[in-house]
Amino acid sequence: MERPKTAQDIRGLKGVRRQTWITAYDYVQAQLAELAEIDVILVGDSLGMTTLGYPTTLPVTVRDMMHHARIVRRGAPNTPMIVDMPFLSYTDPNQALRNAGRFIQGCGAEGVKLEGGRRILPQVEALVAEGIPVVGHLGLTPQSVHRFGGYRVQARAAEAIRELVEDAESLAEAGVIAIVLEGIPDRVAEYVTRRVPVPTIGIGAGNQTDGQVLVFHDCVGLSARLPKFAKPFADVRTVMVTGLAQYREAVLTQSFPDEAHAYHLADEEWERFLQMMQRP
Ligand code: KIV
Repeated sequence: MERPKTAQDIRGLKGVRRQTWITAYDYVQAQLAELAEIDVILVGDSLGMTTLGYPTTLPVTVRDMMHHARIVRRGAPNTPMIVDMPFLSYTDPNQALRNAGRFIQGCGAEGVKLEGGRRILPQVEALVAEGIPVVGHLGLTPQSVHRFGGYRVQARAAEAIRELVEDAESLAEAGVIAIVLEGIPDRVAEYVTRRVPVPTIGIGAGNQTDGQVLVFHDCVGLSARLPKFAKPFADVRTVMVTGLAQYREAVLTQSFPDEAHAYHLADEEWERFLQMMQRP
């Protein structure tokens, strides 16, 4: 199957082929993701940490998400874009509808992602009933960092695994187009993947899910520190710092700008100018 164009295409990739998701937060990142033929761009609320400099995703607002989603849309007009609903923006069905509408109508998103299982089922059902594509998110859901007491791998005990499986089944039944599984043991993710009829997209969940998502900065090696599960596929941070240091050195030694990087004026015109300046 070709790259997905719509939310339903994302859903339809289950059992056909693995899908690739990446987060993006700005115009250039979105362009690069589209050039690399990534299937789906997620405007994650991880932008709070990668781009806005917060220690968690919790301070991110709907306004922040809209600002970045619109930028990403302009950079990647041909890639499905899912937007994260930030912390406290979907506490009840009405609020969820109002805010999701801002991402769909106001930013051109193909769908929204919400963290949680049965706890947020009424919100998911309300969105699906209005025709808004929803992506679920289970496991180590960063908006619950205080509930978890830190960023800890989830679903490690049998009871917790059962809860997660039931959450995933409920979300699938409610009509989500995909479920992100974050920070859970690989065999749990594999079990959920076999159990639900919608694609599972893993991050720190092993390689048996239907697809993978990575944070852009982790993927290209821009992050200063990496979580255990993330693998940098490039070393952009080193390339950038090396380039900046070389620029600094070239300016200090006056080797930049050189002849090739300057605009020149014909001698004749310059002479004319100097004579002009000598006249009283
Ligand atoms: O906010 C985000 O980037 C996410 C992904 C890590 C799944 O939710």
